[in-house]
Amino acid sequence: MRRFAYCKVVLATSLMWVLVDVFLLLYFSECNKCDDKKERSLLPALRAVMSRSQEGPGEMGKAVLIPKDDQEKMKELFKINQFNLMASDMIAFNRSLPDVRLEGCKTKVYPDELPNTSVVIVFHNEAWSTLLRTIYSVINRSPHYLLSEIILVDDASERDFLKVPLENYVKNLQVPIKIIRMEQRSGLIRARLRGAAASKGQVITFLDAHCECTLGWLEPLLARIKEDRKVVVCPIIDVISDDTFEYMAGSDMTYGGFNWKLNFRWYPVPQREMDRRKGDRTLPVRSGNVELHLIPFLVVLGINVETNQCLDNMGRKENEKVGIFNCHGMGGNQVFSYTADKEIRTDDLCLDVSRLNGPVIMLKCHHMRGNQLWEYDAEKHTFLHIITQHVNSNQCLDEPSEDDKMVPTMKDCSESRSQQWLLRNMTLGA
Ligand SMILES: *[C@@H]1O[C@H](CO)[C@@H](O)[C@H](O)[C@H]1NC(C)=O
Ligand SMILES: *[C@@H]1O[C@H](CO)[C@@H](O)[C@H](O)[C@H]1NC(C)=O
Ligand SMILES: *[C@@H]1O[C@H](CO)[C@@H](O)[C@H](O)[C@H]1NC(C)=O
Repeated sequence: MRRFAYCKVVLATSLMWVLVDVFLLLYFSECNKCDDKKERSLLPALRAVMSRSQEGPGEMGKAVLIPKDDQEKMKELFKINQFNLMASDMIAFNRSLPDVRLEGCKTKVYPDELPNTSVVIVFHNEAWSTLLRTIYSVINRSPHYLLSEIILVDDASERDFLKVPLENYVKNLQVPIKIIRMEQRSGLIRARLRGAAASKGQVITFLDAHCECTLGWLEPLLARIKEDRKVVVCPIIDVISDDTFEYMAGSDMTYGGFNWKLNFRWYPVPQREMDRRKGDRTLPVRSGNVELHLIPFLVVLGINVETNQCLDNMGRKENEKVGIFNCHGMGGNQVFSYTADKEIRTDDLCLDVSRLNGPVIMLKCHHMRGNQLWEYDAEKHTFLHIITQHVNSNQCLDEPSEDDKMVPTMKDCSESRSQQWLLRNMTLGA
């Protein structure tokens, strides 16, 4: 044990001397070049500050490790926001981050005349240090002429420090900051919309309340919008560890998109995009999701008139039966889309019937109609399905039978209430 401590001392002292050497070397090599006496006296002081700031906890995006003695306290604090608050509080609001851009991106030139932006940040009971670090990173790493304002939308936080103290603090920052308070807890989307309504910039940028922007984050986003004002852009999103606050570069070989439950997911960049970009990874990836020919579509809940229950995929997988369950109004497994291709779709699975009298199973959507074709009759509220191999096989989606109360069935169309399904548009974020 003592030997170990001894080793550490030796290591630390030698490390210190190496650092002193490096410092001296830098000092003299720099000052050989500069004749100006003023700079001679100014530079070392400046560099001392800078090197200190690069060494503080979490600087350059490094991990912050909590000493053994504080582990208990750390675990307590972790529960407050579900991240390592102790580590976060140790890191400077303006901590430095590595420049993780591809080499080709660092030298890219963007037009001068970019549109300016309002940055909207929604928070609910956010930690002081993560919120402030988000704000500082926006201010410090965005050209100010492009920053119209920062709008903080407080989704009914209960913590006192997010009230008057926050208002007082942000008054002194170099960019106009507006704070909007929701009267009651409203959820991310409503809060964002409120922020958007109050924004003055030409572009609205939505950020999470615990993120950090890196150098050059904003210009490429605005440049794409300047090229085509109808695009919605998204940067590569890297990861900050919830445990150590280490900054970890993400992959540029994935892109964000929405699945059919409108949940955000990462998808691998398709070959078609690799080809289009001819290997130049500094070009943006175009997401295909939006341009699919599935618009217009309804995001619906299918509610059976007789049982008042909703179609529900029950979290089941491909090749399993679709279910039916009490409507919970939370979206999730009960969100189905009736697409322009006349499919009843849940995520990437479609309701598929290949035999008379069912069953109704979920299979990968093939867009070939056939077994996945459903005619919705908006007046009778019925879902008619034709099995192509059979003559006179028109059947309708019906309530469950006595044998299994959890799966809808297929029966000859009768216009009975059990075959009537109401479609309800779902409000996003509700
Ligand atoms: C952060 O701000 C402090 C105080 O103004 C300053 O000393 C330090 O150099 C800054 N750090 C970075 C990485 O800019
Ligand atoms: C943003 O751009 C618009 C249009 O050019 C301009 O009127 C407005 O003053 C700009 N806002 C800021 C804060 O620069
Ligand atoms: C759902 O919204 C779409 C698009 O706005 C509209 O055409 C449709 O009639 C609505 N359907 C229902 C059931 O409210």
